[in-house]
Amino acid sequence: MKNILIISASPRKNGNTQTLCEQFAKGAEEQGHNVKLIRIMDKNIGFCRACDACMKNSGKCILKDDMAEILDLYQKADVLVFATPVYFYGISAQMKTFIDRTYPIWQHLGSKEIYYIIAAGLDEKIINRSLGDLDGFVEHLEHYKIKGRLYATNVMEAGKVKNQPIMREAYQMGKNI
Ligand SMILES: Cc1cc2nc3c(=O)[nH]c(=O)nc-3n(C[C@H](O)[C@H](O)[C@H](O)COP(=O)(O)O)c2cc1C
Repeated sequence: MKNILIISASPRKNGNTQTLCEQFAKGAEEQGHNVKLIRIMDKNIGFCRACDACMKNSGKCILKDDMAEILDLYQKADVLVFATPVYFYGISAQMKTFIDRTYPIWQHLGSKEIYYIIAAGLDEKIINRSLGDLDGFVEHLEHYKIKGRLYATNVMEAGKVKNQPIMREAYQMGKNI
């Protein structure tokens, strides 16, 4: 049994990334894994202040918000799923805010298996151009392996992935962890 943390970073509750995250979670749960799906928009998470207090303070952030609970799950996770829409050729502000707030513990994480779930209004070329932030973040992890990348392309409206084959792919990806 693995600990799986899914970071779902679209502001849309019924959006494409969230829908695919739920499918992924369903597959993983059916295999008996311990799955936590965190929707960043449901949490109270402030911006990193770059005060560096965490660097002098054994990894404790001065901000008192929901990030402490998420960092605990993040640290314990064997598998991390990063799910974001493409916004102006990049990740969403919610995902970037999460990433910056991992700063207090970024050097002390051990081994992680990584999955990406990305949704875009346009095609895969856009997604490939948009992954710099996510790849850069993941490459800073202590030990990591990117195990899967799921791209929902040409989905502009919320929930457009429903009834598309990618729903099954997300479910299978979770099941095959
Ligand atoms: C502010 C904003 C910027 C966007 N920028 C892009 C973009 O650069 N390229 C693209 O293909 N789609 C872009 N889109 C479309 C979204 O990626 C698309 O609607 C996606 O399905 C959103 O995922 P979600 O349903 O999980 O929220 C943008 C949407 C918004 C709201």
